Amino acid sequence: MSIPEPSAIGIDLGTTNCCVAVFRNGRCEAVPSGNGSTTIPSYVAFEDDHCVVGQEAKDNAFGHPKGTIFAVKRILGHRYSEVEDGVRLSQRWPFALTADENGFAAVRLPDDCGMTKVIWKPEEVSGELLKHLKELAQDFLGCPVQRAVITVPASFTEHQRRCTLAAGIMAGLEVVGIVNEPTAAAIAYGLQTPAGENEKTRIILVCDFGGGTIDVSIISAVGRSTFQVLGTSGNMHLGGEDFDDCLVEELLLRWEELHGPGIRQSPAAMTRLRKQAQQVKHTLATGTEENAGVVLASLFGGVDFRTTVSRTTFEKVCGHLFQQALEPIETAMRLTNMRKQDLSHIVLVGGSSRMRVFRDMVADYFPDQRIFKDIHPDEAIAIGAGLMAQNAGELTVADVIALDLGTEVWGGGMTVILPRFSKVPSSAEKVFTTTVDFQTRISVMVYEGTDPVAKNNRFWGRLLMTGIQPALAGFPKIAVTYEYDHFGILKVSAKDLATDSTVETSINLNVPNGS
Ligand SMILES: Nc1ncnc2c1ncn2[C@@H]1O[C@H](COP(=O)(O)OP(=O)(O)OP(=O)(O)O)[C@@H](O)[C@H]1O
Ligand SMILES: [Mg+2]
Repeated sequence: MSIPEPSAIGIDLGTTNCCVAVFRNGRCEAVPSGNGSTTIPSYVAFEDDHCVVGQEAKDNAFGHPKGTIFAVKRILGHRYSEVEDGVRLSQRWPFALTADENGFAAVRLPDDCGMTKVIWKPEEVSGELLKHLKELAQDFLGCPVQRAVITVPASFTEHQRRCTLAAGIMAGLEVVGIVNEPTAAAIAYGLQTPAGENEKTRIILVCDFGGGTIDVSIISAVGRSTFQVLGTSGNMHLGGEDFDDCLVEELLLRWEELHGPGIRQSPAAMTRLRKQAQQVKHTLATGTEENAGVVLASLFGGVDFRTTVSRTTFEKVCGHLFQQALEPIETAMRLTNMRKQDLSHIVLVGGSSRMRVFRDMVADYFPDQRIFKDIHPDEAIAIGAGLMAQNAGELTVADVIALDLGTEVWGGGMTVILPRFSKVPSSAEKVFTTTVDFQTRISVMVYEGTDPVAKNNRFWGRLLMTGIQPALAGFPKIAVTYEYDHFGILKVSAKDLATDSTVETSINLNVPNGS
């Protein structure tokens, strides 16, 4: 009897929920998580030198709010200076953030939670989530799991992809691919292609509206197996959590009007309010009820909190968020020069795509296109990733780079070396020269973004080339090459064409605060 090959898995590592899919009996399916669902909450709770993950951790949040970590994907790969205003000072997160040794945002556990290690990088927290998902898949399959494809938002930066890869490695996975979430959803959509229509090309717009991000890709799909991403757009700071934040704020204002300040400093009260706000959102966003009741016994200082939120209030306090949600769709259409009539289907995935106001807005924007309904909004991404991991049906998937990758030139401008929407993997070369006579060194400053001024884009590191053959300014020829691999990782090299000497680097990210 032959020993079965260790299985490959697909993982949707979400801000709010995670899902793992496996290939079994000729099909890809999402693994049940044990709580009657196929997703687990993206929660990790730390206590007494061990951690629990998923639903158990979320349930723990009331008892140990400062040691119960969620939504770390929102800070993954961000510098602390970028998140401290937006997240920490908003006081909506009951746990503390800090800067790691390189200036990136990390979680700080309370000193009294019994953990030897109190500073956790978001990739380490994600590593715990991935470890748990790997175990879930192993228990379900009854065999070891090694290889995995992990999904990320299409708008994730190069560094965020690296952090995701690092999390996978920490979880003991052999990460065979980092795939964009809408692309994975398109692969799941391809599964629904009726037999006999295998040659047909369809252009689809996939919108993944999750807990932390909204991501849109326009994809050309041929049958079940060939996918070419034409362009992508997204907002990494817009997701269901923002709707929760708005409702939490509304509830806080009501509380403060009745009982005065102080509640924002209570992690336990804030945790309960947040959970309640999410329930209110679910009721009003997708249900038929006009009102949602809030009843929180002994919320703060022994005082109960009772109030009612109407659908009108919900739509008013979240109105700006609904408007923002349409922007990546419009941008993706514009950047790909797509006309509405070119699209065969609109595919909506992600939990927040269930919101009726959002679906209606999309339907109004595309009055003649059908919103494809035969797809599971919570499982599609993991299933697409699972199919890629197994390479079932010999998929051909060509994704694109979401943002321009370039360098700063004399005068501070951004010269693009790898333009956005280049196919992945990709490489490109540009020849630069010196600006000063007998200059022997140049720095290649690597930026990611679409602003013509380099400093307005995201700085990711520098490559220093020394030993350039001395010559008058403008004579040396230095060929700079950017190579972007299928993990979304960038390798930068520079070559003095006079001497053929080369330096290369996978970008040095250990530069605090981009300085
Ligand atoms: N019925 C519903 N009505 C409104 N919102 C919902 C509903 N069901 C789920 N959501 C919201 O969907 C969000 C979670 O969606 P999902 O699981 O797709 O996100 P994620 O994959 O974890 O996040 P991301 O893809 O942004 O990293 C949460 O904010 C949740 O409140
Ligand atoms: Mg998601």
